[in-house]
Amino acid sequence: MPPRQDCGLPDLSGTVGLVTGASGGIGSGVAARLAAAGAAVIVHHHRGADRAAALAAAIADRGGQAVTATADLTRPEECAALMAVAVERYGRLDAVVAAAGVQPVAALPGMSVEAWREVLDTNATGAFATVQAAATVMTGHGGSITLIASVEGTRPAGGHAHYCASKAATIMLARSAALEYGGAGIRVNTVSPGLIDRPGLTQDWPDGVQSWERAAPLGTLGESRDVGDACVFLASPMARWITGHDLVVDGGMSAVPAW
Ligand SMILES: NC(=O)c1ccc[n+]([C@@H]2O[C@H](COP(=O)([O-])OP(=O)(O)OC[C@H]3O[C@@H](n4cnc5c(N)ncnc54)[C@H](OP(=O)(O)O)[C@@H]3O)[C@@H](O)[C@H]2O)c1
Repeated sequence: MPPRQDCGLPDLSGTVGLVTGASGGIGSGVAARLAAAGAAVIVHHHRGADRAAALAAAIADRGGQAVTATADLTRPEECAALMAVAVERYGRLDAVVAAAGVQPVAALPGMSVEAWREVLDTNATGAFATVQAAATVMTGHGGSITLIASVEGTRPAGGHAHYCASKAATIMLARSAALEYGGAGIRVNTVSPGLIDRPGLTQDWPDGVQSWERAAPLGTLGESRDVGDACVFLASPMARWITGHDLVVDGGMSAVPAW
């Protein structure tokens, strides 16, 4: 694994970003990187108000700008109200990263329709509502929307039929949205992470972590910052001609032959 170097970030100062699921592991890393690049950030949470407040305070301590906002993204009207926070607070919205999601495990035989619906509702319908609400606010000046999908959107994993289906839907949603919103100057992409480290993961799932590290060409788990850096790139003018793309951030796992 190449060592991490502080290689600088595109300059996003003067822009406004909004990260859904910023109270969670990946979303918090994305919000921190957008702020480090100079964007003012709306730190979204659902139930994790304390985690969101701590992140906003940490961003402010480092000289950045951040406010928190809550929404249940399975409710489209709350999604629209969330986007309005950016305009009310900072007067504009340039980049949205949708990192809210759920990842329960359930074997397909015996999976209840309620379990299926919960995952599709949160991950796919939530992404749909986020895209629609964000694009409504961005129409007129353009912007960037990045949906966090997963490598499981293109490769299946045991106990994750509902999750894999929701992430495949997210990837195709982004490509469809790229087609329909391109004329308004709105770029829509996905970032598909592989296994991202979080506190307690190695203790909770030692076999999974070991088998990932053995198989991935770069030999380690990813960090939320790796996902954040991909999102900063896609939000930046450096990606001005990139839309409808799925950027895989997985340490090379998708390049491993299946035979
Ligand atoms: N972790 C990985 O290895 C990995 C790999 C590939 C893809 N992903 C994807 O990356 C995204 C983030 O994953 P993570 O590991 O960071 O998960 P996480 O730590 O569990 O965070 C999930 C976030 O989603 C929010 N959320 C859940 N249900 C919501 C709802 N109904 N309305 C609004 N917000 C809701 C949570 O809000 P509160 O906590 O405030 O309630 C939290 O901020 C997910 O889409 C996941 O599928 C993760």
